[in-house]
Amino acid sequence: MSGTEKEGMRFVFPPKGKQQPGPPVGKHRRFCELDLPYPAARVLAPNRYYAELLLEDYAGPHSELTAIHQYIYHDFTFHEEYPELAELEKCIAVVEMRHLELLAETILLLGAEPRFWFVRDNRPVYWTASFPYYGEDVCDRLAADIAAEEGAIRQYRAHRKAIKDAYIDELLHRIILDEEHHLRLFSEAYHKHCRGRV
Ligand SMILES: [Fe+2]
Ligand SMILES: [Fe+2]
Repeated sequence: MSGTEKEGMRFVFPPKGKQQPGPPVGKHRRFCELDLPYPAARVLAPNRYYAELLLEDYAGPHSELTAIHQYIYHDFTFHEEYPELAELEKCIAVVEMRHLELLAETILLLGAEPRFWFVRDNRPVYWTASFPYYGEDVCDRLAADIAAEEGAIRQYRAHRKAIKDAYIDELLHRIILDEEHHLRLFSEAYHKHCRGRV
């Protein structure tokens, strides 16, 4: 299957009743989660350009969907030898799924269809399983996870500058706080397991 779709991306009318507060992080907060609620998915108005920027964060090469698959794969590979790291990867992957869901709700409100695709040269391109970094050993996997979080923070900051919508800005700000926390956790794990590695 080719990575593009001939008929182009369809834009849909924002669904009604979607602007409800999301569930706050509750009592059963896990170690990789921050004790801060998420804002509801809301937008000032439908906007195709903003939807395209968020599709990059949602299912582009460096996206929530890529992070979820990368971290889940690393969880599988760490399971036997590094159960504590496997737990960390899985915990963070679940938080990335929450980000994915909030982005999907926002993309719908902006008037676009949140398939697992992004836009290049005005055409939709589907996410592929070549985007995650699969890796060879524990240290190069953790290094890639650190790079993924650093890249996510950079990309979200750039999109905050480009998107003039206070509701989306609030959401991206909240997501960045999580990514900064993930960066700390992966960096601590790297320091513990890969000290002395260049
Ligand atoms: Fe994320
Ligand atoms: Fe993250």
